[in-house]
Amino acid sequence: MVNFDVYKIREDFPILKSKVNDYPLVFLDNGATSQKPRRVIDGIKYFYENINANPMRSIHHLAEKATEAYVDAREKIAKFINASPEEIVFVRNTTEAINLVSFALPFKRGERVATTYLEHHSNILPWLKLKENGLGVDFVDVDENFDLDMDYYKEMPAETKLVTVAHESNVTGTINDVKKICSLAHSSDTLCLVDAAQSAPHMKIDVNDMGADFLAFSGHKMLGPLGIGVLYINKNVAPKLRTFMTGGEMIKSVKINKVEYADMPSFFEAGTQNVEGAYGLGLAIDYLNGVGLNNIESYEKGLMAHLYQSSKTIKDIDIYSGRSKKNGAIFAFNLKKLHPHDIAYLLDKKGIAIRSGFHCAQPFIEDKLHLEGAARASMYFYNTKEEMDAFVNGLKEIQVEYG
Ligand SMILES: Cc1ncc(COP(=O)(O)O)c(C=O)c1O
Repeated sequence: MVNFDVYKIREDFPILKSKVNDYPLVFLDNGATSQKPRRVIDGIKYFYENINANPMRSIHHLAEKATEAYVDAREKIAKFINASPEEIVFVRNTTEAINLVSFALPFKRGERVATTYLEHHSNILPWLKLKENGLGVDFVDVDENFDLDMDYYKEMPAETKLVTVAHESNVTGTINDVKKICSLAHSSDTLCLVDAAQSAPHMKIDVNDMGADFLAFSGHKMLGPLGIGVLYINKNVAPKLRTFMTGGEMIKSVKINKVEYADMPSFFEAGTQNVEGAYGLGLAIDYLNGVGLNNIESYEKGLMAHLYQSSKTIKDIDIYSGRSKKNGAIFAFNLKKLHPHDIAYLLDKKGIAIRSGFHCAQPFIEDKLHLEGAARASMYFYNTKEEMDAFVNGLKEIQVEYG
């Protein structure tokens, strides 16, 4: 049961009123970044007009306000995923979060990381970089429906120190059973990192229930500003980690021959923090909570059902999403006679924004789909059934005009 009026919701997003090439904008590139509600846009202006100062340092009035804004945002985010504030590290984005883990986890020679074929480059490259220093890197395979080979996790090499997996694939929308993966990892004393970049915006996440040791997501994909992201680090794992970046605010005491580092989460937040970003993300979370993650998930299910139904009327289409046990609001496809970049270009002429190419998942697209690229429409809760129809009709029209 969905408990919101999408047309009312859309009123909160000024950019959705835009026209592109004389057509109303149909924004279906939400997997890349989401649009922002007025509450976040106005909040950022409010921040600079009323709060701005360097937090956690000075004791003057504004510095106190900036500190409070930063601390409050961290609390909201902790609550959002059922964590404690000291488990929430602010980073720039998911990419930085995963890189941080790759630097902070002390790997020994011969140890291994298991990533998967479904990953975004940001959950592949940090591990391939460490491979240069002797880390073993395994890629968990997928079956013909793009579900992960769960047997792998039952019989992992004993040297596997970390399994790292996307909660939701940014290409196929496959939703992986990360709770099961984390539980299997833990049963062989292996840590578990979950890339929630595509899931956190769309569904309720409870890190305790999931059992992740690390969870990464980006604020900009969930109504927040660019340049702010989150890395959750389980409090039992944090003491095992080394510093990532060093500098101001991540220390208790600095002497020429002895440094004492700050506790979590400051330990990983060297330098002046992105308070504006954290504040904006806090407002985005207020907005998401107001709509309700369960509402968002149900609404998007209905939207996708509508899209899959109407996509049956499109000829010469290959669809790569929607085949797994659980799928998100992502529709990846190709039209047989058009290159994915041409599809994106021609749809843009009709005001419809989608993405095309490798989607930062070249190993999956090339080795598993055997393609040079794919087109992808990615939805959010402010998209409507009418927009799904405009998208499907747009595809049919470009097939007639250019196919
Ligand atoms: C699954 C997944 N992981 C990681 C990322 C990287 O996110 P960011 O560019 O915000 O670091 C993305 C971005 O699309 C993604 O979809």
